[in-house]
Formats: sequence, structure tokens, C-alpha cells
Amino acid sequence: MTEKIPTLNIGMLGYGFIGKAHANGYKQLSYMMWPPPAIPYLYLICGRNEKAVSEAAKRYGFKGYRLDWKEVVSDKRIDIFDNCAPNHLHFEPTVEALKNGKNVICEKPLAVNGELAYEMYKISKDAKGKSMVAFNYRFIPAVILAKQLIDEGRIGRIYHFRGRYLQEGMVDPNRPLTWRLRKEFAGKGVLGDLGSHIIDLARYLVGEIVAVSGITHTFIKERPLSDNTSQKGTVDVDDAFESIVEFENGAIGTVEASKLCHGRKNYMYFEINGSKGSIRFNLERLDELEVYFANEGTNKIMGFKDVMVTESSDPFIKYWWPHGHIIGWGNLFAHELYHFVDCIINDKDVAPQGASFEDGYKAAKICDSIEESSLTGKRVELKY
Ligand SMILES: NC(=O)c1ccc[n+]([C@@H]2O[C@H](COP(=O)([O-])OP(=O)(O)OC[C@H]3O[C@@H](n4cnc5c(N)ncnc54)[C@H](O)[C@@H]3O)[C@@H](O)[C@H]2O)c1
Repeated sequence: MTEKIPTLNIGMLGYGFIGKAHANGYKQLSYMMWPPPAIPYLYLICGRNEKAVSEAAKRYGFKGYRLDWKEVVSDKRIDIFDNCAPNHLHFEPTVEALKNGKNVICEKPLAVNGELAYEMYKISKDAKGKSMVAFNYRFIPAVILAKQLIDEGRIGRIYHFRGRYLQEGMVDPNRPLTWRLRKEFAGKGVLGDLGSHIIDLARYLVGEIVAVSGITHTFIKERPLSDNTSQKGTVDVDDAFESIVEFENGAIGTVEASKLCHGRKNYMYFEINGSKGSIRFNLERLDELEVYFANEGTNKIMGFKDVMVTESSDPFIKYWWPHGHIIGWGNLFAHELYHFVDCIINDKDVAPQGASFEDGYKAAKICDSIEESSLTGKRVELKY
């Protein structure tokens, strides 16, 4: 007979793009990853507009909804507060939830700047509940394999990390001025949005970043205020950035992101070159990892090997389908949330597999430093 499985009540803020992905992740977790450490129960969802949030509750399967996040973070029945709101709403609700003893998963970037992210990290250290930043790309089986190969020394001493996150979503100058393009709500533009992902992966895979030299840029400086108006507003954040990064272990690298790249859909790519080999990964082919081991012979036609990371021995894959029956972007949320639930139930640290609030703070500080370097034209050394 199956032992009794505990339940954890979820309170979620935000039901847009990523709220939908998290709600789906909780459902997949208890459906596919059996037996789960706990069964997530979609308890309360929160937003501002009653018609829309009540519809989201119905559609995603939440028991109820609220219009004020304070009622969610103070509700004694909530075990996990899941912050899927825009960036400016990460700080206050997350801090309140932590102070109320909740376990908290907060979307990236942890805060609109490094200073607020540092406050959140400090509060998380003394909090009763677990905390994790939703850097979901740490939960791609192929990325975890890349980390294993690096940690085992299979590619030797690392020389280079080359990371880019490119999309085409904002190439049309008539796409409206959403919260992502306004400093007040987003903090940073593509640097915080896509850049924080690639920066987190650089730290996860290669190690601490100690200095940056970067440039941020805004190509499209004005956009329509909404779909149905010709009235324009100012884009006061970057829409592209490039940076050189220096790692504590001596490796050097580059990171860049932009949403002005025709033809790029969701192209997050990294390549790591070491003394014994190389690794490369492309999010648009997330079930595959390309590897090159220099000691595998001198045959001149030899190139990168494409490894399908879909064996049941690969992380999380045993919960899905037989090998070769690939998984996708939406499934990563089940991995991430499974890990968080497991850490809560079995009292484990979320790091190093998951991103702690310290990781979230450091990623935010690196983004700040790239912005500072762009403003001053100088290399910035990181002091955490
Ligand atoms: N990990 C990832 O891959 C990933 C992908 C997309 C977004 N994100 C992150 O998720 C967060 C949300 O992004 P999104 O794409 O879902 O945005 P979105 O605009 O699609 O949804 C935002 C949600 O927050 C709600 N909201 C906005 N202002 C509010 C307020 N004042 N009070 C209450 N609710 C409010 C909106 O109604 C909506 O439900 C951001 O921090 C973003 O960086 C992460």
C-alpha cells in the first residue's frame, strides 16, 4: 500500500505566461512524478482583475482566488507562496511571505536591482521556510549532464564560456510598451529578463563571476502604449546587451542577450571550451547535448557528438516517457517544482541544484555591474 503522501497548499501571485507554466508544472508533478514527495494543491491564485483571476482559477484548477496578495501570504493554510508576478512585485510579497514562515519560490530576476535582491537574500537566511529562485534552466537534464561532465573534469580546465540568449519578439517597433520595457516595473530590460538566465547558467556551470565589462543599448526608444493606439511611450530600459565576464577560476567568457534577432525564436545557447574538450547546448534542442572530447582520437573528420539526454538514468527522465520520447520547455517546471517540494519535505538545501536567494542576489548584482560598466565605460569588479 502507498504510504500517505503529504499535501502542500500553493498560493500563487500572477497568472500570465509564467503563472500558467507553474500551475501546469504542479499538475504534471503529481501526475507524472509518482510518488511525489508531496502533492501540491492549487489553493489560491491572486491578481488584480476579478473577472480574469476568477477565470484563471477555474482554468488552472485553483480552489479560490484573491485580489490582494497580502491575503495570500498571510493565509495560514498556504504552505508555498509562488511569486509569478512582474519583477517590481517580487520584493514586497516575497519578503512578507518569508516573514510569515512560508516556503517561497520567486521568479527571476529575484528583484529589480542587486540592493533589493540582497535584502531578500538576507531575510531568506533567517527565514523558517525554504526559498528558491525559479531559474528553470538549471533543471534541463542536458544542462545537468553538462555540469556533471565539468565537475568530473571531463573537459579539463575551463578556458571559455560563451552564452547568448536571443529572441525576435521585439523586432517589430509596433509591439507595445509592456511592463518588461519600463524600468519602474522591470528594473532592467533584456539584461534582467534573458540575461539573468544566461548569467545564472554561467555561474552554475563554470563558477563565480568576479568582473564584467559590458554595454547595454536601447535601439527602439519609443513604442505604442498599447495595441490600439498610436500614442507612444518611452522605453527606458535596454533592449540588448553584450558583456565580457571573468570567472574566479581564471576562465573568461562572453554573455549577451537581445530580442531584436530576426529568426531567433528562443535561442539560448552556450559553449564551454576546456583543456580536454568542449560542450555546447541550444535550448531549442533541449533534449540534446553536444560534446567533444579531445582524447577520443585524432581522426580529422571527428566533430561534436550529439548526445540525446533522454535515458531513464538521466535526471528526471524516468518520470516521463521511454528514451527518445523527448520532453519540452513546459516540462522543466515540473522538475523545478519537484526539487523545491522535495527540499521542503525532506529538509534539503535548494542549492546547488536549484538557485538559492544568494544565487538570485549574485545574478542581480552582476546585471547591475554590467549596467554600471556600460555607463562608466569601465571594467567593474564584483564585490558581493
Ligand atoms: N523562468 C522563465 O523562463 C520565465 C519566463 C517568463 C517570465 N518569467 C518571469 O515571470 C514573471 C512574470 O512574467 P510573465 O511573463 O508571466 O508576465 P505576464 O505579464 O504574462 O503576467 C504577469 C501577471 O502578473 C499580474 N500582475 C501584474 N501586475 C500586478 C499587480 N500589481 N498585482 C497583482 N498582479 C499583477 C498580471 O495580471 C499577470 O497575471 C517575471 O518576473 C518574469 O521575469 C520567467
